[in-house]
Amino acid sequence: MLAAANPGDTVAYGADPWTERATSQLRELFGARGGVFFVFTGTAANVLGLGLLLRPYEGVVCPASSHLNVDECGAVERVLGCKLLSVPAPDGKLTPELVASRLADRGDEHRVQPGVVAVAQATELGTCYTLAELRALREFCESQRLLLYLDGARLANAAAYLGCSLAELAGCADVLSFGATKNGALGAEAVVVMADGLDGAAPYLRKQHMQLGSKMRYLAAQFCALLADGLWLRNAQQANAMARRLADGLHDVAGVSVCQPVMANMVFAEVTKSLLEPLRRDWHFDSAGDASVPVARWMTAFNTTEADVDDFLAAVRKAAGQS
Ligand SMILES: Cc1ncc(COP(=O)(O)O)c(C=O)c1O
Repeated sequence: MLAAANPGDTVAYGADPWTERATSQLRELFGARGGVFFVFTGTAANVLGLGLLLRPYEGVVCPASSHLNVDECGAVERVLGCKLLSVPAPDGKLTPELVASRLADRGDEHRVQPGVVAVAQATELGTCYTLAELRALREFCESQRLLLYLDGARLANAAAYLGCSLAELAGCADVLSFGATKNGALGAEAVVVMADGLDGAAPYLRKQHMQLGSKMRYLAAQFCALLADGLWLRNAQQANAMARRLADGLHDVAGVSVCQPVMANMVFAEVTKSLLEPLRRDWHFDSAGDASVPVARWMTAFNTTEADVDDFLAAVRKAAGQS
């Protein structure tokens, strides 16, 4: 699709047929009443999406483990100048009760006012909200006059896991991101505005955030490719299936204990240090957690094959002395 978008000239900055096509397809797929804005990274999508929802004195309630709180170098705080009101959430998921725990200071002019709840689907811990959980959060947000932002860098993986439509997931959000990069694209994300009246500032903020690509057609063409024949779903299903295969294969390995439900394309496992060190020599992965019981984060992707997983499993077994 990139090659198809390449020949000839077209109008820059998104006034081209590829952007028009991708935008209208995404609006239809999500049931969006507002616009769709392409950006280059998931971090930029989060900053733009949240920027549409926040007033200057408002903060964002989010899980302590969320990507925007932990892994974006404070981009939201720096660029938007807002406070993140983080809440510990052991499985990475917010509940109405957890959100409520950050609302005590409402109405106190000395305190940052919670204005937006930000959830990720799938979460940073590889878990997914059920539709019922998302809807309960949505209802709670409405009852509390809070807006809901959904970080969908891995939304396709969640839709594949739940077997639901993108519109069902998006229907719970005021604004969301839809990630393509983790699902096979070269660097393209979309900010989708679901509700009326929220996207007026988006073109200007995107430009100020340095995310208005002059060659927008190349971002848009990647969405056209992913949407053309359900490729976005097949890619996500493949990634999820490989994570499942990995988790199943780890089942009887001594010194490895999968510690989060495996729902998307991530496997989190407590791993003994003696096993982790030899593995790291040949494989690159992150780990966190208590130094005595590290938690490894093993990711699969749209292009992970069964053979890749089996090679890795063989390496884990060897490190565990079980080969
Ligand atoms: C849930 C989530 N949100 C946002 C991002 C940010 O994406 P990027 O690295 O493209 O800025 C990631 C990246 O891993 C992510 O997993």
